[in-house]
Amino acid sequence: MNNIPRIGDQAPDFEAITTTGKIKFSDYNQGSWIIFFSHPADFTPVCTTEMSGFALEQDTFFAVHNCKLMGLSIDSIHSHIAWVDNVRKNTGVLFKFPIVADIDMHVSQLWGMLQPGESETAAVRAVFIIDPNGIIRLVMYYPMSVGRNMGEIKRALLALQTTVEHKVACPLNWQPGDKVIVPPPKSVDALEERLNSDLEMVDFYLAKKAL
Ligand code: BEZ
Repeated sequence: MNNIPRIGDQAPDFEAITTTGKIKFSDYNQGSWIIFFSHPADFTPVCTTEMSGFALEQDTFFAVHNCKLMGLSIDSIHSHIAWVDNVRKNTGVLFKFPIVADIDMHVSQLWGMLQPGESETAAVRAVFIIDPNGIIRLVMYYPMSVGRNMGEIKRALLALQTTVEHKVACPLNWQPGDKVIVPPPKSVDALEERLNSDLEMVDFYLAKKAL
């Protein structure tokens, strides 16, 4: 049966062969955020643009945002290595992050990346953002025909990190540096305190502050 991990679930653990060697997911996850994403197939055009987009951000994600990347497709390790080499030779972009070779579909089934209505043999474009405690914080699915948006993936990571660090929420179209939403008061005393605060307030339940 095809599992679908949900927001708030513990990330399903696995060991797999990847382009950077054998990896146990929970070990890779220790102490860092992870963006784990699947693509339908190596040597395909949309996937090449997406993986290159991830690769252009890989150093910033790691060094600035404490976030490691991990890719996956239902291809062999030989195919992955040949594709990494091909893209590096053609464009100079090197995919340094591990790409899981999921030829037996074990990991893609475990992570809900194989959605038979779209394809029985290729993963859809899934994105999971996992926190340093191994909890899935965000899930996105895109079909084969539509590439993802790196700006939105990065925005979502930074928004998640901001909500966790500051115990706030992020409104529509939030970008780093924008004001954040303070959770609504949970008692009459807290309401009173809020009404006398200098928060930017539309009403007592919708209040914003700068960080
Ligand atoms: C692509 O990456 O271009 C692609 C892969 C599978 C199906 C459709 C498009």
